[in-house]
Amino acid sequence: MKKFSLKPNIVYEKESIEYLHKINIKNSLIITDKFMVESGITKKVTDILDEEKAKYEIFSEVKPNPSSDLVVDGVEAMLKLKPDSIIAIGGGSAIDTAKGIILFYMNMMNKSSKEHAVKPYFIAIPTTSGTGSEVTSYSVITDNDTHVKMAFSEDIMLPDLAIVDPDFTKSVPPSVTADTGMDVFTHALEALVSNESSDFTDTLANGVLKIVFSYLLRAYRDGNDTIARQKMHNASCMAGIAFTNSALGINHSMGHAFGARFKVSHGRAVAIFLPYVIEYNSLDSICAYKYSDLAKSIGLPATTIEQGIFSLIESIKVLNRKLGIPVCIKEMDIDKKEFLDEIENMSKTAMEDVCTLGNRKKPTKDDIATIFKKAYEG
Ligand SMILES: [Fe+2]
Repeated sequence: MKKFSLKPNIVYEKESIEYLHKINIKNSLIITDKFMVESGITKKVTDILDEEKAKYEIFSEVKPNPSSDLVVDGVEAMLKLKPDSIIAIGGGSAIDTAKGIILFYMNMMNKSSKEHAVKPYFIAIPTTSGTGSEVTSYSVITDNDTHVKMAFSEDIMLPDLAIVDPDFTKSVPPSVTADTGMDVFTHALEALVSNESSDFTDTLANGVLKIVFSYLLRAYRDGNDTIARQKMHNASCMAGIAFTNSALGINHSMGHAFGARFKVSHGRAVAIFLPYVIEYNSLDSICAYKYSDLAKSIGLPATTIEQGIFSLIESIKVLNRKLGIPVCIKEMDIDKKEFLDEIENMSKTAMEDVCTLGNRKKPTKDDIATIFKKAYEG
């Protein structure tokens, strides 16, 4: 038996933020970062709350790679305000922080109260088109003492409402549009070939991949292209639904290990490994067929399965190049010896990553090490 979850409710397209008028918010905690406040993005939300005469407080301490201390501070803000709703505004970090705060707040309330605590209504407003965090129950929080990243997944952390309004992505610079857009691509592609994939997730994943091939370059070249921004924002959300109901794979495991060691952004780190992971996964006949079928559906040469896989790999390299993303690690400012010396550790970390469980073709540590080496030379 398999399960496909359709929560949360999603409002989308330009001006969907106006939907906030329809929610009976009386007292809200807004979780965001300082840039969102200073750039006026948060004001798009607070103006509506002001019109509705709702009370609110802004917790703007969110930083990239949210820490356990940050979650504790957020829980303290929750205990003071006792809000009826939480509005997370930002990229994956703000939404992940809000999820962590809700989880620990609810655990604390349930332990200290005789009655079952009521979860605040959780609204997620993504400001990048990448993580899909607005529709998943996953959150990654870094332990302040050990610096270990802890992944949490609880139903209670799933937002109740996602507002997927492309106006919130207009200020995103081109390099971030490129990196986060390729993260969307990787979510969909890994969901498509995962051992957890289904007809439901395949349909979403294939649709997302077509959108990314058609619109990511447009959004990268012109951040004010509202159609391209909207398409990429929808694609990010749908990729989130696809992978949360299917799974990710070693492309993410390797990206996590490499990104953490060499300080490379998440989207860029996963984008670099795409061609080399596709080549490896194609040793599995189901993956090979799905890659080739995707190539055919987007109009690439795919008379045979081998030709389809080759076309897909080459088209991703071309897309990466056009987006200013290196097609191999050698093209980055990373010393060869330093990289090769790290392969053993990175391969071990990638093997232990939870995403590796979702990979249809089961790798050995040596397989991962070989892919790392190939990705260096290109
Ligand atoms: Fe990702």
